Amino acid sequence: MASTAIQGLDVLYSRQQIANRVAEMGAQITRDFNGEKLVMVGVLKGAAFFLSDLSRAIDLDATFDFVAVSSYGTAQRSSGAVKLIKDLDQPIEGKNVLVVEDILDTGLTLAYLRKIFLQQHPKTLRIATLLDKPSRRIEKIEADYVGFSIPNLFVIGYGMDFAERFRNLPDICLMPPDSSE
Ligand code: IMP
Ligand code: MG
Repeated sequence: MASTAIQGLDVLYSRQQIANRVAEMGAQITRDFNGEKLVMVGVLKGAAFFLSDLSRAIDLDATFDFVAVSSYGTAQRSSGAVKLIKDLDQPIEGKNVLVVEDILDTGLTLAYLRKIFLQQHPKTLRIATLLDKPSRRIEKIEADYVGFSIPNLFVIGYGMDFAERFRNLPDICLMPPDSSE
């Protein structure tokens, strides 16, 4: 089991397990898009590492774009309102769009993004998420590509944060219950 620099953190998925799964996802996406061009749209900031690794596992003519959203509320609990704070740089009309997200949780973020992206009439719109927490879903939305499906746990690392910290942990770790210091 991999260790982390921050003592006492439990590793849920090690960097090697993540790399293996991301390689499988990239191979699947490469097969599915069958030589077509792809626009990968990362959701900042959490999906930065996943997009970086996934894109290098995809053997297609791909470009990147990024959006940023904010959901109002506290660090661990969203209030439900989603706001776009950084829009796409390039139009996606007629393009194959793959939205790349770190975690599909309540689904509020991806349901909102799907709605506003579909208004631009992409050729196709698919979703890749590294983690899925189906038990937390509020909006009816599923990802086309899921790295790992997990129970209702709060995780940090590999891009995912608690109050903006811990994104740079190389493994996906469990957030200890009382470590907000
Ligand atoms: P949703 O809109 O509820 O689906 O939430 C999606 C966003 O909530 C994710 O992109 C994450 O930024 C954040 N999030 C949900 N669960 C976790 C977690 O366990 N750790 C860190 N961030 C999380
Ligand atoms: Mg996120």
